[in-house]
Amino acid sequence: MSARTLIAPSVLSSDFSKLGDEVEAIVEAGADWVHLDVMDGHFVPNITFGAPVIKAIRNRTDAYFDAHLMIAPVDPYLAAFAEAGCDGITVHAEAGPHLDRSLQTIRNLGRKAGVSLNPATPENAIEYVLDRLDLILLMTINPGFGGQAFIPAVVEKVRRVKAMIGERPIDIQIDGGVTPETAPLIAAAGANVLVAGTAVFKGGTVASYRANIEAIRQAADAARE
Ligand code: DX5
Ligand code: ZN
Repeated sequence: MSARTLIAPSVLSSDFSKLGDEVEAIVEAGADWVHLDVMDGHFVPNITFGAPVIKAIRNRTDAYFDAHLMIAPVDPYLAAFAEAGCDGITVHAEAGPHLDRSLQTIRNLGRKAGVSLNPATPENAIEYVLDRLDLILLMTINPGFGGQAFIPAVVEKVRRVKAMIGERPIDIQIDGGVTPETAPLIAAAGANVLVAGTAVFKGGTVASYRANIEAIRQAADAARE
């Protein structure tokens, strides 16, 4: 778990016609992780891309590939995402009845295991799987689309999760509506990995991506000090 705030741009807001170039651009611009939003049109009301697309861009960078799987069922596909080159694999607690099994599978595949909670899901949904987790992703929007408004009620959940994990080395990640304005709220509450799509990809150039990433990181780091 990192002391410095990590920024994980979501390629959902990138130009898909040149996805590989966009991944290289955000890494050059200072992104720590590459956040990959996988959607199935069933668990969430949108469809994006799957393991073959991730595999195709894997050779464009050595950066950490952070897969956010918004799919149900998820277990039949975990091996494919590991083989595609995802470093961390996050599943939703709401996506199936066997979260503990999914997390064990991810670690058995040699990948970092994450769980995500939708805004309405209470933190006690993960109380009994804490020792199987490398990352907890708290959604600050209802998943499915970029560009939605940040839901402030989740800030209290960040605090509760931070207290719940105690000394365990678990990253707390936030996803949805992250901007230089909202980043300090969640960083002060205990989050250390911030996903941002719209706020990173505006501008369309490496220079603008760099400025956008730095603005979020500085706002968050100042709030964590
Ligand atoms: C939405 C995705 C997010 C999304 C965030 O379901 O999980 O990663 O791309 O987009 P912004 O930063 O625009 O809210
Ligand atoms: Zn995401």
